[in-house]
Amino acid sequence: MPQFYIKTFGCQMNERDSEIMAQLLRQAGHQQCFSAADAKIIVVNTCSIRAKAEHKVISLLGALRPLKAANPDIIIAVAGCVAQQYGAALREKMPIIDLVIGTQQIYQIAELVALARKTPGLIADALDASYRIPSFLPDAAALAGGVSRFVTIMQGCDNFCAYCVVPYTRGREVSRQAADILAEVRALVASGVQEITLLGQNVNSYGVTNTVGKSGYRFADLLGDVAALPGLRRLRFTTSHPKDLSEDLMRCFRDLPSLCPHLHLPLQSGANPVLKRMNRKYDREQYLELVARLLAYRPDLALSTDIIVGFPGETNEDFSKTLEILETARFHASFSFKYSDRPGTVSAQFPDKIDEAVKGKRLQIFQRRQDEISLERNREYIGQRVEILVEKSDAASCAGRTPGNHLAHISLPENHTVKPGDFIDVIITGAGAHSLRGEKLG
Ligand code: SAH
Ligand code: SF4
Ligand code: F3S
Repeated sequence: MPQFYIKTFGCQMNERDSEIMAQLLRQAGHQQCFSAADAKIIVVNTCSIRAKAEHKVISLLGALRPLKAANPDIIIAVAGCVAQQYGAALREKMPIIDLVIGTQQIYQIAELVALARKTPGLIADALDASYRIPSFLPDAAALAGGVSRFVTIMQGCDNFCAYCVVPYTRGREVSRQAADILAEVRALVASGVQEITLLGQNVNSYGVTNTVGKSGYRFADLLGDVAALPGLRRLRFTTSHPKDLSEDLMRCFRDLPSLCPHLHLPLQSGANPVLKRMNRKYDREQYLELVARLLAYRPDLALSTDIIVGFPGETNEDFSKTLEILETARFHASFSFKYSDRPGTVSAQFPDKIDEAVKGKRLQIFQRRQDEISLERNREYIGQRVEILVEKSDAASCAGRTPGNHLAHISLPENHTVKPGDFIDVIITGAGAHSLRGEKLG
């Protein structure tokens, strides 16, 4: 049985796409292996969100050159956002590539790999504006094991934030049929999965660009229907664009008991002139208003965000506005990045690019303050009793997540054994900036 190996870079959506490709290759008679050296088919699922992400892909492909030279029969396939962005040019630059798989072609991977054996240098990267996500269900092998799983509900993005490559690499926004999503979640829950995260670049606009079932069916309706499936203990979703966060959706945090009290709500910048140039379509006041409304519905909601520092033209004063909003919103956590020019994006053409050293300094200042706030936030949990979904365990301890999505390391009383998938009640006894510590209650 020919073996295949998949290496994944990038976001959760890419991780889910890799799982789908793995299932399709298995169903076509290939066997998954976990080392490139053993594989007859190597799939590199790539990310191009920042220049650094792209460099990692290029260096991995470089490192595969000796393997391909020693065994020319190996098929090297490149999928994901770098593949979509550069298409044939990628193969010209790196002739070891046998197959380029665009972001809308992942469901054809098995056929494409077979074709590439006969015609190396196959480029399958058409981006179709009327693309629809095919019906797809995990098979028995894909269902085995796993406590927490991702379910893709959308593909693409129509928001065209000035800095972002995703609308070009993932194409137009398309929502998956509600019936397909519900069938997938049902199958996962029946196989013992306890936690589901619904995925899309902007889940808040689910059902807007194409019909997904009943007319007018939107993300809040989908959340309600998923939450109503018997047996699902925890429900999460990511990512939300603030401009599309509806009142109906915010109310879900009050009304759906299985919807976990955590929301990732990317802010990007706290300065209105920067938000405007980023084409984010909200301002700092609207963002803070959303935070206040969310907390009114769910006072224990933990918020996390994404921040870009050093967007073209960002002044010291603009940056201080970002620090100021950090003090007000007191995010539990954030992912922060130095602005990176991406080919084809609007802001790549902007003047007033910020010096790398200035970006580095701003990032450091932001991250230091975020770490302090995360620590203060985490300390608020000390003494509280919370429920942990166990993800890993050994004889004396285990680790898992709280409802608010905090990672917690738990010590177990003597003779207590727990396993992944268990829910346990713990008391939080300590906090760091990035995790909590606790003890299982007897
Ligand atoms: N769809 C999500 C984010 C996807 S990309 C959303 O709308 O929020 C994840 C994060 O990468 C973004 O939130 C942004 O903070 C960061 N990012 C995207 N493009 C970037 C760029 N060119 N430079 C630096 N960071 C970037
Ligand atoms: Fe990129 Fe903006 Fe779309 Fe998010 S919403 S994927 S940041 S264009
Ligand atoms: Fe990267 Fe593409 Fe995801 S650019 S972040 S893999 S959508």
